[in-house]
Amino acid sequence: MLKETVIKEMINVFHDVPYGVDHTLKVLQLAEDIMTGESIDSEKRELITITAILHDIGALEAQRKYGSMEAKYQEKEGAIIARQILEKVGYEPGKIDRVCYIVGNHHTPEKIDGIDFQVLWEADLIANMEAMDIKNDIEKLPGYIEENFKTTAGKVLAKEYFLNTGGI
Ligand SMILES: [Fe+2]
Repeated sequence: MLKETVIKEMINVFHDVPYGVDHTLKVLQLAEDIMTGESIDSEKRELITITAILHDIGALEAQRKYGSMEAKYQEKEGAIIARQILEKVGYEPGKIDRVCYIVGNHHTPEKIDGIDFQVLWEADLIANMEAMDIKNDIEKLPGYIEENFKTTAGKVLAKEYFLNTGGI
């Protein structure tokens, strides 16, 4: 199955960095939870699943090439590696372009232009909020969630994780 094949490719890239695999699988699970809540159709679901698995795939290459994991480098290298992997596994060219657009802009919320990108953004944000101070700021947190999350399922999930239980 495509999902398992792409997961294997992702694990291969992150073989020396278990955090990369763990973070990616967490984002994938969160994306799946949001997609279920939003009743995303199966074609979009597949594309978002693939995007979640590959979203941080450029991190190590950015570090290797530029000595930096700055967003712009991760995005650039991520889109290149995602394309190589998806061409190798024979994914549809039009869908490869869409996955690479999202991977290549995934730290740039101004570029969000569709529900697929939005779901990835929200899933990644929940995973990343675990390490952000905002999660402990009870005053500002509800407004932050309101501002950054657009899907109903994403908002509910973020509130469950950070307002009720205090963490993932
Ligand atoms: Fe991420």
